[in-house]
Amino acid sequence: MSSRSQTRLLHKHMGVLFSTMSSEELLDSLDSFEAREDDIFLVSYPKSGTHWVAEIIENIPNAGIALTSPIELGNISKFEELKMIPKRRVIPTHLNYSMLPVTAKQKQCKIIYIVRNPKDTAVSLFHYYRDNPNLPSMESWASFLELFLRGDVVYGSWFDHVLSWEEHKNDKNVLFLFYEEMKKDFVKSLKKITAFLGINVNDSEISKITQNTSFSEMKSNAAKENCDPNHVICALTSNRNLVFRKGVVGDWINYFTPKQKRAFDELFTEKMKSSEVGRCVKEYV
Ligand code: A3P
Repeated sequence: MSSRSQTRLLHKHMGVLFSTMSSEELLDSLDSFEAREDDIFLVSYPKSGTHWVAEIIENIPNAGIALTSPIELGNISKFEELKMIPKRRVIPTHLNYSMLPVTAKQKQCKIIYIVRNPKDTAVSLFHYYRDNPNLPSMESWASFLELFLRGDVVYGSWFDHVLSWEEHKNDKNVLFLFYEEMKKDFVKSLKKITAFLGINVNDSEISKITQNTSFSEMKSNAAKENCDPNHVICALTSNRNLVFRKGVVGDWINYFTPKQKRAFDELFTEKMKSSEVGRCVKEYV
């Protein structure tokens, strides 16, 4: 067996693939997690810009929050660890809606859901599979894309993930953010985040946050603070150097053959036919 085999590194829970860094026992117990009313969940399909939004929230002055590691990362001792955090918790996760702990739903915790166009997400995840020792090795882009379209990748199908969350898009405790909109008008997206969290920021704070969370700034900081276990945002790595690759919109064009694009577009049209989010990301795919 190769050291980066699928069987060793991934396992299925409720029909969805997870990294073995998320223990079966922890995944089975998610509903016993005690959410607090003021918890904020930072939710996304992997490679949608989670680290970026986490950094933005951490850079908001006087936010009084503590960014935790992902709720699904680790073993059952996780909940005890999260209980010890006295501050308002920002809890990242790549879980689909149905797996989110029931108390988070009952208490209507604030939820930020980040979406990115699925073609760039697929390319980004392909590189993650190749570079991240916690994910199985991947022979080629073509074979990865097949798995992605079938939903046979970590956290399952992009389509199912987004659609599961879209049902709650208009709930008052939910904010949808689009990676492409953040790239296009960062300040507008930042103001959406601060308004949603009920925090005021002034112009000089806005420009400081903009500077601190730029792709180049975050990439160079990652190189300095590599592997800080207290700064884990994605349940698939603690090595931040693997995260900051290109940070652009439209890189998919360099990967998809015309045939692959057609197959992707057909599936996209079928799966997203009644989806408003689908219409929003359509212009980028
Ligand atoms: P690429 O692989 O296309 O470069 P996540 O944080 O959910 O794992 O998403 C990672 C993706 O977000 C990567 O995409 C990464 O480069 C991009 N990203 C991270 N920080 C960013 C930033 N500050 N600005 C723009 N993109 C960023």
